[in-house]
Amino acid sequence: MENLCLLVFLLFFFPLLPLQSTAASEYVRQPPRPIILTHHNRSESDPQQVHISLAGKDHVRVSWVSGTHRVPSVVEYGKTPGRYEASAAGESTKYQYFFYSSGKIHHVKIGPLEPATTYYYRCGESGPDFSFRTPPATFPIEFAVVGTSFFPCLCFWMTYHFSLSPTANSVSTGDLGQTEWTASTLTHVNASDYDVFLLPGDLSYADSQQPLWDSFGRLVEPYASRRPWMVTEGNHEIETFPIIYPHGFKSYNARWPMPYRESGSKSNLYYSFNVAGVHVIMLGSYTDFDAGSEQYKWLEADLAGVDRRETPWLIVLLHAPWYNSNAAHKGEGESMRKAMEEMLYRSRVDMVFAGHVHAYERFTRVYDNKADPCGPVHITIGDGGNREGLAFLFEKPSPSISEFQEPSFGHGRLRILDGKRAHWSWHRNDDSDCVVADELWLESLSSSRACMPTSSAEDLQGSSASAATREEL
Ligand SMILES: [Fe+2]
Repeated sequence: MENLCLLVFLLFFFPLLPLQSTAASEYVRQPPRPIILTHHNRSESDPQQVHISLAGKDHVRVSWVSGTHRVPSVVEYGKTPGRYEASAAGESTKYQYFFYSSGKIHHVKIGPLEPATTYYYRCGESGPDFSFRTPPATFPIEFAVVGTSFFPCLCFWMTYHFSLSPTANSVSTGDLGQTEWTASTLTHVNASDYDVFLLPGDLSYADSQQPLWDSFGRLVEPYASRRPWMVTEGNHEIETFPIIYPHGFKSYNARWPMPYRESGSKSNLYYSFNVAGVHVIMLGSYTDFDAGSEQYKWLEADLAGVDRRETPWLIVLLHAPWYNSNAAHKGEGESMRKAMEEMLYRSRVDMVFAGHVHAYERFTRVYDNKADPCGPVHITIGDGGNREGLAFLFEKPSPSISEFQEPSFGHGRLRILDGKRAHWSWHRNDDSDCVVADELWLESLSSSRACMPTSSAEDLQGSSASAATREEL
């Protein structure tokens, strides 16, 4: 009992203490940039931390937090600003984590919605209007891909503004911390249009310091309220505590529900969704994945249900990379790779995105540690910005399957033109500019006669017609 009390004391009076051991300290990290402070200035009953996610065919889930519990879980929405033609009621939750009590966390599913359409909406029958655009029903479609948190140095903020209170009102008395790297990446992501935001884990870096989840929600609201944010969990979402919180993911699951029920999954830690002609699978690196596990069985069934005529592109995201030539987190994804790689290979997955390693690395098409034209392209993009700095130590010489390595902050763009062609680009944060440092044209394996049964490939060639051309980029 004495030891437990000591742990609780350390947790709340030494907020810099990490509960999950992550990047090793021996790496020389790029130092974070100066902190930028922003303010929260809405009333206690007004919505905060508004974000949206795809929630099954033609539906979107709207999530937000209110400081008071009287606010109804209702979203009003329509195609004209301030005129709401429809409304929907949803559910709410709240949670306790030691002395922290969350605000009322609302989740409301709205729809059916039209594709590629801007909707205006209001949360909880009060507060500001928001708007978002639904993704297109057909190609082309563009994803913004950002790995690992935007939240580099909130520890500093916590040092000066430590508070256990979760509500909008209470947090509005303090300043929200973020660094110039944070602002840089977010600005670059937002500078050009995209349809869906993909984030393979490590969102807030709260690491059990719950007010940081609220801060993160407010930081990303201007972006996550406008486009669907589809996330999966990283190690920084675990937040277990011996005996008291042994299962973890309490905050993550309460705040960032993804369409797992809609995709036949029993856990918010892994799920899938279709958007335009793309089937996206979000795997969980921090829940069971061995043969016979719930996740393994779900993945098997999910892949079996993929029709490449409807979704010629098949993409997977997870947190701990299966291929990694950086010294940081070396081998951490290996057991999951051994358990699941063959399944993805047989299904002709086109791309696998990972986070976790604070750098950018792109591999060739690969299977079982060897170049393979029918394997997925693996990309590590754990460089959105984080409090731990960058992972500089790549193997020298680079393994032959690793085609590009760079330890810089940045983000990626995946522009899928049609059922066959896509363009990937990685945009490095270069001071205040955003520079394309790596790019690649890809062909979907669904259109490869060498990798797919001939009849399927021919059918797909016919079904992937699109007016998009390279010039449209
Ligand atoms: Fe991580």
